[in-house]
Amino acid sequence: MTSQRGRFNMTSRRSLPLHTFFFLFPLLIWMVDHSFCYKPVIVIHGLFDSSANFKNLLRYINESHPGTNVTVLDLFDHRKSLQPLWKQVEGFKEAIYPIMQNAGRDGVHLLCYSQGGLICRGLLQTMSDHNVDTFISLSSPQMGQYGDTDYLRFLFPTYVKSNLYRICYTQLGQTFSICNFWNDPHHHGMYVNVSDFLAPLNVERPEPNATVWKKNFLRLRKMVLIGGPDDGVITPWESSHFGFFDENETVLEMKLQMVYQQDTFGLRTLDYREAITVYSVPGVSHTMWHSNETVFKDCIEKWLT
Ligand SMILES: *[C@@H]1O[C@H](CO)[C@@H](O)[C@H](O)[C@H]1NC(C)=O
Ligand SMILES: *[C@@H]1O[C@H](CO)[C@@H](O)[C@H](O)[C@H]1NC(C)=O
Ligand SMILES: *[C@@H]1O[C@H](CO)[C@@H](O)[C@H](O)[C@H]1NC(C)=O
Ligand SMILES: *[C@@H]1O[C@H](CO)[C@@H](O)[C@H](O)[C@H]1NC(C)=O
Ligand SMILES: *[C@@H]1O[C@H](CO)[C@@H](O)[C@H](O)[C@H]1NC(C)=O
Ligand SMILES: *[C@@H]1O[C@H](CO)[C@@H](O)[C@H](O)[C@H]1NC(C)=O
Repeated sequence: MTSQRGRFNMTSRRSLPLHTFFFLFPLLIWMVDHSFCYKPVIVIHGLFDSSANFKNLLRYINESHPGTNVTVLDLFDHRKSLQPLWKQVEGFKEAIYPIMQNAGRDGVHLLCYSQGGLICRGLLQTMSDHNVDTFISLSSPQMGQYGDTDYLRFLFPTYVKSNLYRICYTQLGQTFSICNFWNDPHHHGMYVNVSDFLAPLNVERPEPNATVWKKNFLRLRKMVLIGGPDDGVITPWESSHFGFFDENETVLEMKLQMVYQQDTFGLRTLDYREAITVYSVPGVSHTMWHSNETVFKDCIEKWLT
């Protein structure tokens, strides 16, 4: 036994450098490439804000995952965020394309806040070669919005939610981002006919690109939906989880939505893959989602690997 072990040790000692080179060097490269690097994170802001609003989030990511390359895109800031959403999708597409290419096969994470979450869905559905690993939708009105807010009062002072359809469901109205996802449950037919962004994105009316869009969307590995009852802006707040009002303003959850049941853009397929995680967090108002450290620790941190 002893002599055998001695002999073995001698042989292994002699051949170790060669083995080290052939086995450990590629392993080292692989580890640097894969395990020690966090995927780049691309952040897309919401209505009336800009990259300046994400200082806390950047700090949390830097503390928990040092070295992560985070880009908060400074496009369509402040009032420019009112521009039509397809136009914003095109603008953001140009900006994120090089970041995606730099990331290569490992891909990137998309963290999209509020209205930005709809821009991100536009990106995911229309980019045939995106490499998004995880899409984090942070309090985004994924099924639209039907509620009075300060934003609305500021823009259309003489309108309230019950009559806003009169301006939103016109060609002129659709040149404002907020009308692009205005979803009035009492005027569903008009919404389906006129909505220039959310209705086609959801394939709620015949859309020639639907098959391609679904395929693109399903390149996603994971979707994380974060929202909560004390949001105060997103109405119904369940829209952040793909729920929405029916004609009687009763909220129906994601699985009862037509877009889910008919799998119009891949939502049900993604769910069947167990690729959707939903967080419902009380006590967070709309403008606090990206700055609340508990939300980051509980709902975001573990996905940014
Ligand atoms: C990240 O944290 C390190 C150490 O705390 C600090 O030196 C660095 O400036 C931070 N970087 C950013 C981008 O915040
Ligand atoms: C972060 O990503 C951007 C876009 O891919 C790239 O231009 C930049 O060099 C990266 N920064 C670092 C420090 O790697
Ligand atoms: C929607 O468009 C169709 C076809 O043009 C039309 O028949 C229908 O009346 C419209 N519905 C509403 C509510 O405008
Ligand atoms: C939809 O498809 C047409 C042709 O098939 C294409 O030209 C157009 O760019 C597509 N639109 C989007 C938003 O993908
Ligand atoms: C809405 O309420 C009316 C009156 O109570 C009822 O007849 C109708 O079926 C309800 N619609 C839905 C979708 O539940
Ligand atoms: C932060 O989030 C927690 C829930 O995760 C909530 O209870 C708390 O009120 C929030 N704080 C602020 C300032 O938003």
